Amino acid sequence: MEMIISGKATLIGEVEVSSSKNAILPILAASLLTDEKVEVSKVPIIKDVIIISKLIEELGVRVELNKNCLSFQGKLISTQPPYELVRQIRASFLVMGPILARKGKVRVALPGGCAIGTRPIDLHLKGFQALGADISLNSGDVVAKASQLIGAHIYLDYPSVGATENIIMAASMASGTSYIENAALEPEIVDLANFINSMGGKVTGAGTNVIKIKGVKDLHGVSYTPIPDRIEAGTYMVAVAATGGDAIIKNIVPEHLKAITAKLIESGAEITEGKDYLRVKRESRIKPVYIKTLPYPGFPTDMQAQFMSYLSLSLGTSVISESVFENRFMHVQELSRMGADIKIEGKTAIIRGVKKLTGANIKATDLRAGAALVIAGLTAQGETVLLNSEHVDRGYENIAPKLNAMGASIKVI
Ligand code: EPZ
Repeated sequence: MEMIISGKATLIGEVEVSSSKNAILPILAASLLTDEKVEVSKVPIIKDVIIISKLIEELGVRVELNKNCLSFQGKLISTQPPYELVRQIRASFLVMGPILARKGKVRVALPGGCAIGTRPIDLHLKGFQALGADISLNSGDVVAKASQLIGAHIYLDYPSVGATENIIMAASMASGTSYIENAALEPEIVDLANFINSMGGKVTGAGTNVIKIKGVKDLHGVSYTPIPDRIEAGTYMVAVAATGGDAIIKNIVPEHLKAITAKLIESGAEITEGKDYLRVKRESRIKPVYIKTLPYPGFPTDMQAQFMSYLSLSLGTSVISESVFENRFMHVQELSRMGADIKIEGKTAIIRGVKKLTGANIKATDLRAGAALVIAGLTAQGETVLLNSEHVDRGYENIAPKLNAMGASIKVI
């Protein structure tokens, strides 16, 4: 897939944000904790959601989609999701906790490397071990077995989002009470806890660094609407600011966007907040800023690439350090081909602002790098052809129509 992006766009008007991909993926996995009917509404039809739904179907559960509502019902039969699907998406590991909780065993192919780093699952497995599971490696697969999971005290060496989610799901049906210390604080963790509690679970403390999970015998069906996607929202905020536009971003939770809002204001954009929307406007020149990506509520790593596109046009030198992933600068060489002046020193990028970027043939390497290159293309002089643009569709529903409705001119071929 390719996107042909016309430059010198100014984004004006409004855009509605979809439900959060990173809340939905663990919630879909958690639907395996019951055989009763689970309905998740306002689901964006994006590739990552489709792959996880297919994977859940392969486990024996009937999956139906009508418009933006996904429903799941049926007996969980298989304990080994197919390699073909697991290798396509890291979030596949999120089915380990629920399958282990329901069936006492699970076998999943180990993660391959992906574009933004090795991304191991050692913290997930340590959590399962603490709950009483035996973990073994078997020709490229990881196998976890436990006749009965027992509540435990788990300390996470790093506040891993996925590990926190997987351990919550496994512990939700363990016998006894579990505690996760140094848990991730992301809003998507809170949404997963709310989802499991609406199924009859007993998860408290989500959103703080100590989460308590009282195991229950059964969880029942539910229908649920996930939170809005804070990274999709942040991406549109930066796109409007980068093009010197003026637009309303609707269906958001302002609280989830604090770090992004603060940095945009520091760079000279004007932000006015409403209850479930905010307005972004930028007229003055872009001021350089320092950014360090951190776990929530710090500046999100998923917004690092988008901000780099924006800051490559600033009046001065910005510094971005990426502390979460070890190789999340794949977009830098593509931006440099458009005329950006960026130097990488280890995990730090030094961005010297330039007057303009020039359209070019560039390629997307991962989801957020792709989004960053769309933003760069919108601001550039001339036309940009973004190759491998299917990466962008993994996390952004209808990104071209949403941007075109605000004055962009993007063709998808
Ligand atoms: C989630 O990934 C998100 N994905 C990522 O969003 C996001 O970038 C990341 O959290 C950080 O916020 C989903 O929610 C589906 P981590 P996850 O476990 O759970 C290391 C996007 O663009 N680590 O918090 O994989 C890991 O290598 C995606 O939407 C271990 O060392 O993130 C990384 O360096 C990209 N061992 C760091 O922790 C483990 O067992 C953060 O990983 C687990 C993680």
